[in-house]
Amino acid sequence: TEIKIFCPATIANLNCGFDVMGLCLEGIGDEMIIRKVADKGIRITKITGADLPLETDKNVAGVAALAIFNAAKPDCGFEIEIHKKIKAGSGIGSSSASAAGAVFGINELLGKPFTRHELVDFAMKGEAIASGSEHADNVAPCILGGFTLVRGYNPLDVIKIESPSEIYAVVLHPHIEVKTSDSRAILSPIIALKDAITQWGNLGGLIAGLYSKDYELIGRSLQDVIIEPLRKKLIPNFDEVKNSALNAGALGAGISGAGPSIFALCKGQAIAEKVAFAMSSNYLDTGIPFDMHVSRV
Ligand code: HSE
Repeated sequence: TEIKIFCPATIANLNCGFDVMGLCLEGIGDEMIIRKVADKGIRITKITGADLPLETDKNVAGVAALAIFNAAKPDCGFEIEIHKKIKAGSGIGSSSASAAGAVFGINELLGKPFTRHELVDFAMKGEAIASGSEHADNVAPCILGGFTLVRGYNPLDVIKIESPSEIYAVVLHPHIEVKTSDSRAILSPIIALKDAITQWGNLGGLIAGLYSKDYELIGRSLQDVIIEPLRKKLIPNFDEVKNSALNAGALGAGISGAGPSIFALCKGQAIAEKVAFAMSSNYLDTGIPFDMHVSRV
């Protein structure tokens, strides 16, 4: 009646897929312990590694847990321990990992009444209190693994995308905090038709490249003419780091989620290590502390 789970970090958007694309990082994530107890309701009993609220209705894991709890109406309750390794506000799905972990763990302890696709919907409810809007591009890959596409939100329609085995992700996390709500507030709700055409051409190209394992096509498609030009101002040295990744052989690079992390996708571990070195060398110039991750997708 207790389960310990690994809740992976994720990269949302992947340049051309704002609010719809995401991928799961295999090697980076939080740990959660969920316990089935006799007392009904959801209680967060312990949080380590971050200063987050223990109140169920103010905590993303708590809100997501309540969503599945209220749907399942079980004759028991759950206690949740959260051990954060992913820093809040880093742009690699910290709040989504907690929301996804809570619903995944509770579903397991209840004997899996819901499908993984249904869990994405519950987790999105929790994630919404952190970001100020409901989007599933981090929770979907966290629960389903690999690359995912949110085909539609109303109703939620999430698709797991076949992807090539040699893709590695490099993430540089500058230690500055960018709140998702702030980095959404600077976006324009209206976009130019010519930019929309570029963006959906690239998104189609990315999906086709993933299915056909065409790394060149994946690289050509990792572009963003709508969101990146507005958000990159929040990230010191963004253009320089991105160029250093591309020059070192990355397929593409961009802002991870709402930032400030900068990601690059690479073919194979050797190139990923080389790209990580180039990005770090470049970032040392800023004097801003940062950490780097290289992970399989
Ligand atoms: N798609 C979201 C955004 C992900 O970029 O705002 C961050 O939670």
